[in-house]
Parts: sequence; C-alpha cells; structure tokens
Amino acid sequence: MTKIIDGKAISQEIKDELKAQVAELKEQGVEITLAVIQVGNDPASSVYVRNKKNACAYIGIQSLAYELPEETTEQELIDLLEKLNKDDTVNGILVQLPLPGHINEDRVLDTIVPAKDVDGFHPQNVGALCIGKPGHVSCTPAGVIQLLKRSGIEIAGKECVVIGRSNIVGKPMSLLLLRENGTVTIAHSRTADLAQVTKRADILIVAVGRPKMITAEYVKDGAVVIDVGIHRNAEGKLCGDVDFDSVAPKCSAITPVPGGVGPMTIAMLMHNCVRTVMK
Ligand code: GUN
Repeated sequence: MTKIIDGKAISQEIKDELKAQVAELKEQGVEITLAVIQVGNDPASSVYVRNKKNACAYIGIQSLAYELPEETTEQELIDLLEKLNKDDTVNGILVQLPLPGHINEDRVLDTIVPAKDVDGFHPQNVGALCIGKPGHVSCTPAGVIQLLKRSGIEIAGKECVVIGRSNIVGKPMSLLLLRENGTVTIAHSRTADLAQVTKRADILIVAVGRPKMITAEYVKDGAVVIDVGIHRNAEGKLCGDVDFDSVAPKCSAITPVPGGVGPMTIAMLMHNCVRTVMK
C-alpha cells in the first residue's frame, strides 16, 4: 500500500506546536513581528502574501504588511529594508519574490540582516547551511525534511536524488539531506540519462518545474517520492512535477499536489520567525 504523505495535516501539526510556543513566549513578554513586503501586485504573490499573513495571525505572530507600488525604485526598497533592519521591534523580514524587473533581487536580499532573513536566502545563511553552522534554512526544503521525519522515513544511509539545482530548493535540499546523512546526488536539466540516475533513489525529490515530467519509468519500486512542483493546467486543476497516477502505485510513499509540500513552506516560515527569538 502506498502511503500518501499528508502535508496539510503535518503543517497543521507544526503550526499548532508553534502557536503553543508563541503563547508561552507572550507570557514571558516576548512578541514576534514579521514584516512582509510586496512590490507590485502580481496575483500569485498576493495569494502567497495573504496566506503568510493568515498563518501569522493563527500562530500569534504580528505581521506588518508593506504593499509597495510597481514603480518603487531599488533604492527606496533598500532604504525600507535598512530601516526594518535597525528596528528592534521587527524580528523577521520577508520580501516576496519575484520583484519587478528593474530591481536587482540579489542586491535586495543581501541587504536584509541574516538574523532577520526568515526566508533563508541571504548568502550568509546559505553558507551557514553549507558548513553546518546555525542559521535560517530555506523554507520549502526544510519543510520536505519535516515531511520525511514526521512520516517516519529514515534518511541516514539512503540514496537520495534531488532533481533541480535552484538556490531556493535544489541546492539547500541537497545540503539538508546530506546533513541528515543521506547519500546525495543532484540531477538537473543537463544530466545524461536522467532515468538511470533517478532509479537509484530510495528518496526522490522532484523540483524540475515541468508538469507531470516524472513518470513511473524514472522511479524505483518502493521509493519515496516528494513532489515540489506546482502547476495549474488549462482547466485550472493543480498538478505537480510528478505524474502522480502512474508513479503512486510504484512508491512506498508519495506527496500529492496540492496538499503535499505546498503547505509546509509557510509552516517552516513560521518556524523561522519563532526561531528569531530563541537563544
Ligand atoms: N516566491 C515564491 N516562493 C517564495 C518564497 O519562498 N519566499 C519569497 N520571499 N518569495 C517567494
């Protein structure tokens, strides 16, 4: 029987743990505040930002919303970030991506002080992850680790294959699996004979960004398959990078889309916000 990993239930479990922790912190007089900045009004970003604000409200974290016009200059955004960096009442800062084309994303992300970088995108946090030092970890890959651990799936000693090498998912995902003592391979668009590589995987993490690309012939019998992709087809139905119907019968466990990795990203963002006040 294939286990369907319920990301909604696991993310709810994490949010409830955090909610209890935040209530305890409040009793000690500690408040947590997250500043959420959106530039322009990309509809998908507006949905993500709304979900983040709702999660803050649920857990008891205060959120400050900055909705800036599309024409905002890079310098204006950087000035705001520098002000928030210095503001002791602000614990976390999140700039929703993508930014409009005239703004240099790297310059903006580098401006956020690493301690407040709850997205885990600052080079200092990425470097800390790389050398095994404490720091904020990118939320989606951190969420995948929680899905595996809370589903009782052992990582140590397993063949882990990550398809995708993005800075936000593929690279930090590989480092986290390595930190958990997995044997890690990173595959990508230039990998020769992808199926031969992915068929080695006990744990296959798919973040390729192509709808239903991973079919049964890429997967070993009994593998655990984690689908990080999310796409909407012409009829408005959501699907992942994995062809769920063909792959699921072959797996020991698999995440669905929606309801798998997706809900974990916000839970881990909330985790990072709480982490800012932990000593
Ligand atoms: N845009 C898409 N995903 C993310 C994310 O995890 N963080 C931010 N800041 N922007 C995003």
